[in-house]
Amino acid sequence: MSLFITFEGVEGSGKSTQILLLAETLRQGGFNVLTTREPGGCPLSDKIRHLLLHPDQGEVASETELFLYLAARAQHVFEIIRPALAAGKIVLCDRFADATTAYQGFARGLDLSLIHRFNDFAVGGLVPDLTLLLDMPVENGQERLAHRNHTTGSRRDRLELEPDTFHERVRQGYLCLARDYPERFRVVNALAGREELALEISTLVEPFLAEVN
Ligand SMILES: Nc1ncnc2c1ncn2[C@@H]1O[C@H](COP(=O)(O)OP(=O)(O)OP(=O)(O)O)[C@@H](O)[C@H]1O
Ligand SMILES: [Mg+2]
Repeated sequence: MSLFITFEGVEGSGKSTQILLLAETLRQGGFNVLTTREPGGCPLSDKIRHLLLHPDQGEVASETELFLYLAARAQHVFEIIRPALAAGKIVLCDRFADATTAYQGFARGLDLSLIHRFNDFAVGGLVPDLTLLLDMPVENGQERLAHRNHTTGSRRDRLELEPDTFHERVRQGYLCLARDYPERFRVVNALAGREELALEISTLVEPFLAEVN
């Protein structure tokens, strides 16, 4: 048996940090883990990531954005995620289909039922076993990003440059999804310290490990 876990949350909520920590814990426990991220995860999808996130793209139609995300996801599932799951791995993915619902649906305002159908089509019906939503107020995430970008010398990407009101709609969209799909969503308080959060996440993942060889 395999296990597919996705991490979601507003910019700067600590997804990448927690994926690394969980992967380390699981590998120490002897599990075969693959970590990956969206948009991207394979060469073709990484090219689409560049197109999507580059800040100097001019105005991008929401529909264009939606199809680029879906195209990147379809290839990522085909080339990386499905083969890893078929090989019995635990796949930890930094953002997945719920991000499209939150960003292009709730925040951009595209039709939610259409997005649901397109997402389902793009991934061939693949649904995560568990989705960890790292929830925090938008301004705290933005502060962390400002600090991280200052330290690493990187620029904000096209989505990070959206105003706080956009990111607030993303946050509320994610919370709405968590209420709609309580069987697979777990919401954690992303304001907690790194180690505290890592422990909480390990505890939430624990019951799912019995299913994995
Ligand atoms: N629990 C935490 N407490 C304080 N700072 C944290 C915590 N987790 C991560 N950080 C710091 O906050 C910044 C953002 O974390 P990280 O890159 O993991 O977030 P992210 O959700 O992956 O962001 P993005 O949406 O940009 O990919 C980093 O500088 C990281 O070191
Ligand atoms: Mg990240």
